[in-house]
Amino acid sequence: MTLSPGGAPFLSAAKAEEVRQRFGTPCYVYDLVGLEAAARRALAFGAPYGLTLRYAMKANPSRGILGVFRALGLHIDASSDWEVERALVAGFAPEQILLTSQMPSRRLAEHIARGIRLNACSLHQLEAVGRAAPGRAIAVRMNPGLGSGSTKRTNTGGPAASFGIWHDYLGDVKAVAARHGLTIRTLHTHIGSGTDPEVWKRATRMTLDLVAQLPDVKVVNLGGGFKVGRMPEEPTVDIAEVGSHVRGELEAFRERDGRALSLEIEPGTYLVAQAGVVVATCVDVVDTGKDGYLFAKLDTGMTEVTRPSLYGAQHPVDVVGGAGREPAAVVFVGPCCESGDVLTPAPGDPETLGPRWLPRPRIGDLVLVGGAGAYCSAMSTINYNSYPQAPEVMLEPDGRLTLLRQRQTFEQMLANEM
Ligand SMILES: Cc1ncc(COP(=O)(O)O)c(C=O)c1O
Repeated sequence: MTLSPGGAPFLSAAKAEEVRQRFGTPCYVYDLVGLEAAARRALAFGAPYGLTLRYAMKANPSRGILGVFRALGLHIDASSDWEVERALVAGFAPEQILLTSQMPSRRLAEHIARGIRLNACSLHQLEAVGRAAPGRAIAVRMNPGLGSGSTKRTNTGGPAASFGIWHDYLGDVKAVAARHGLTIRTLHTHIGSGTDPEVWKRATRMTLDLVAQLPDVKVVNLGGGFKVGRMPEEPTVDIAEVGSHVRGELEAFRERDGRALSLEIEPGTYLVAQAGVVVATCVDVVDTGKDGYLFAKLDTGMTEVTRPSLYGAQHPVDVVGGAGREPAAVVFVGPCCESGDVLTPAPGDPETLGPRWLPRPRIGDLVLVGGAGAYCSAMSTINYNSYPQAPEVMLEPDGRLTLLRQRQTFEQMLANEM
């Protein structure tokens, strides 16, 4: 059984209560101080010949968060035509946006006219870019043959991953590029989310070996994936240590090859995960007898924090005001009519319950679900069981709460039905 730590160190009990009074629960709260601090750490990443830090906006595309990172000079990794649009609305310049999409873009001509940067993620995409924009400088995403993720579902490299062009096909990449007069200016790899830093380092070398075979490449993009331990027992990557390794690799590459490569990295999780919490309410407490389980039902679950149901991901849970109460082994579940709506599964195993040893929750308690800045609002199962999309709030450094997005209304839920 896991001992559960505090859900969100940045949110006091009084602030959490203020959130509930003003915005209702469930409600996402983001910490501006934490967002900026993470961005500053990432901006210090080792890059001897220039660094572009792209925010992988898939982690959390809220305009309020995009605005924070834009002000700090970050650029954007967009994963769909729609994310490109959202980044533009948030004020990013087209040339700050790199589109890296599984889906061949339906708006290539428009992107090209505006100056959006394109990353060809398959030979089919490369052909399409070549036809639409012959002679253009582009990026190519390769699968270097190695991947690593916190689970198999977030591993995006190696033979079991469909992302990028398999490294053996470099000859085809060159042939397609030559046929359309494309210059491959950027080589991109992203091997997974929650990556083992040692594997990330090996993939760096494999990526540079590919760059060595592409004489026009001036920029290497090593993707994101930096692991963040949401729970205290989970490791968090030492980004400065990985950065100093990459610095050494880039310097050695220059010695070998002569090229001083500019570096891009594109973290999502690292920038936002720990700066988010869901403020929720315990709405019921039930149990299944003396040999069964004690369940605390919350008004949040897979609707706002889907990762536990999907991956068995671990998020800290905190019962506000519970200190001093008798502890109990508690399984936290969400409000959906779905046995998979479990907030505390066993680590890495969404099929198994993972009770937490915590003060026994009571109906009406405030409960905080931490580590909810990345892939929570973005991946929520919006409107399952017809629960409305939860609001998002920014906690400002002076303690003010600013509403970023209001709770979806019932009318909005039905708006597109004929
Ligand atoms: C191409 C690409 N870059 C960056 C990221 C960000 O990964 P993370 O949030 O693990 O840093 C992802 C995540 O899926 C991705 O697909």
